[in-house]
Amino acid sequence: MKIPLLSLAKQKERLGESLNRAVQKVMDSGVFILGPEVRQFEAEFAAALQAREAIGVSDGTNALRIALQALGVGPKDEVILPSFTFIATATAISSLGATPVFADIDPISMNLDPVSAAKAVTPRTKALLPVHIFGFPADMDGLTALAKEKGLKIIEDCAQAHLSAFKGRAVGTIGNAGAFSFYPSKNLGAAGDAGAVTTQDPDLAEIIRELGNCGRVTGGPAYQHVRIGYTSRLDEIQAAVLRVKLTHLAQWTASRRRIAQRYIQDLQGLPLRLPELGTAGTKHTFHLFVIRCEKRDLLAQHLSKQGIGNGVYYPIPVHRQPVYEGLGKGLSLPHTDEASRTALALPMFPELEESEVDAVCRAVKEFFA
Ligand SMILES: Cc1ncc(COP(=O)(O)O)c(C=O)c1O
Repeated sequence: MKIPLLSLAKQKERLGESLNRAVQKVMDSGVFILGPEVRQFEAEFAAALQAREAIGVSDGTNALRIALQALGVGPKDEVILPSFTFIATATAISSLGATPVFADIDPISMNLDPVSAAKAVTPRTKALLPVHIFGFPADMDGLTALAKEKGLKIIEDCAQAHLSAFKGRAVGTIGNAGAFSFYPSKNLGAAGDAGAVTTQDPDLAEIIRELGNCGRVTGGPAYQHVRIGYTSRLDEIQAAVLRVKLTHLAQWTASRRRIAQRYIQDLQGLPLRLPELGTAGTKHTFHLFVIRCEKRDLLAQHLSKQGIGNGVYYPIPVHRQPVYEGLGKGLSLPHTDEASRTALALPMFPELEESEVDAVCRAVKEFFA
């Protein structure tokens, strides 16, 4: 039996017709940019998160970049982030001429550690950029306290954390802004690149909207530009696809959590560190189900041999990437290095069958037997 790490095939089987109809409707309308689908998706996505504002953008990287720029991050500023993340978290900062400053992660949650972040603050620090890695919320209490004390902004990288919650609040609504990716493999995925920024601040929302739309004033003259902006809009076809999928997101999230619970129960007692479901309103949404194993590479080989998909996120922490050689030199982030050495993702997608989860668990147990 082959079990993929991720498959969108069953989603396509179930939603194919409604997705085709939604795309056809846009094609027939002839409106492709900033039309009713984008407006409605923004309202529906904001409602799903209980965010005051959601602004569609072209992708998750630009969601980060635009949120940072709207909050005033620019050349000479520093932004503190984890190194255990996808490269875009850092490159969004660099693209503005600002400097990414890597802090260590909490060894259990693998999210930005507020204590390590506090040690990285300098007079040039402008913002904190926590990542809710794999769907597990970062310690927003600790980070919010630090931001308050030092007068910093918070931009949440929610690319992997649609509907994740910290103490009852959706991520993306706690900091000054949240940046989402709708890359096709994400928990809410478009049929191409797409993203959104969320915020509780309507004035900030307006700046974000202008930055993503060539620096134009919303509702103003077409060729009057008030800021250095970008062509970085969510388009109508992607918004139409996302609107169809958003109606299923809560149910898909529940399925991911059910699958995770089954894994957690079945893999107890093995020499592994297992992720947590979360407690008291703090909700993991399992974009990936990531275990930690000292013999990670051997376990990965064993699973691959049996046709079981698995993946290493992330084998090289960002501060050790060739592109950040200068910033990473001499930097000691032991928990980040440990996570990169031991983390392994097991198959996770909402349509994964219980029998498939059981087969994965059997194969993992066999490895340790
Ligand atoms: C943590 C994280 N941040 C940012 C991004 C960037 O999103 P996108 O690929 O939509 O630009 C991703 C997605 O790949 C991600 O996983």
